[in-house]
Amino acid sequence: MSVPGTVDIRPMTKADLESVLAIEQASFPHPWRYEHFLHELASPHSFPFVAVIEGAVGGYVCLMSLFEEAEILDIVVAPHLRGRGIARALLEHAVAIAQGKQAGIMRLEVRASNRAAIALYERFGFSRTGMRTKYYEGVEDALLMEKTL
Ligand SMILES: CC(C)(COP(=O)(O)OP(=O)(O)OC[C@H]1O[C@@H](n2cnc3c(N)ncnc32)[C@H](O)[C@@H]1OP(=O)(O)O)[C@@H](O)C(=O)NCCC(=O)NCCS
Repeated sequence: MSVPGTVDIRPMTKADLESVLAIEQASFPHPWRYEHFLHELASPHSFPFVAVIEGAVGGYVCLMSLFEEAEILDIVVAPHLRGRGIARALLEHAVAIAQGKQAGIMRLEVRASNRAAIALYERFGFSRTGMRTKYYEGVEDALLMEKTL
């Protein structure tokens, strides 16, 4: 049993997907689908983790790590649990896992309008390395960011 308010981070399982999809759908206009998460669970290069708060899934991160490169594919915290350091805990965990797999660099892309996520990544030492114009739905730019591990 976890202490109230503490965040436990553990590997995502198929049994988590109902909760994960509910958070995903509450967070994005174009959410990942069930099959997408199944792929993350099955891929040998994917390392999805959930944050469990008081027994319930409150957020998750999908990390890909292949040779020297790691990528954050998705990091989400349930709307009612934001601002409590849960994304920070998930990102710290993902960085530690990637380092353990000998990755030397971590990359990600984020919507240029996503101020909260960009602030999170910058706080973690990610720098802006480029832009993909009209990458999302042919409309919104993607900001490319990376961090040396
Ligand atoms: C981005 C997101 C994951 C942050 O989760 P969170 O648990 O609220 O973040 P934390 O509480 O761990 O905050 C860590 C740092 O991120 C930054 N941050 C988080 N939310 C912020 C906000 N709304 N505005 C500005 N900075 C913010 C801050 O630097 C914060 O550090 P501080 O508290 O010391 O100032 C969350 O807002 C979310 O799920 N958004 C929707 C999904 C999404 O856009 N994911 C990223 C793209 S894949």
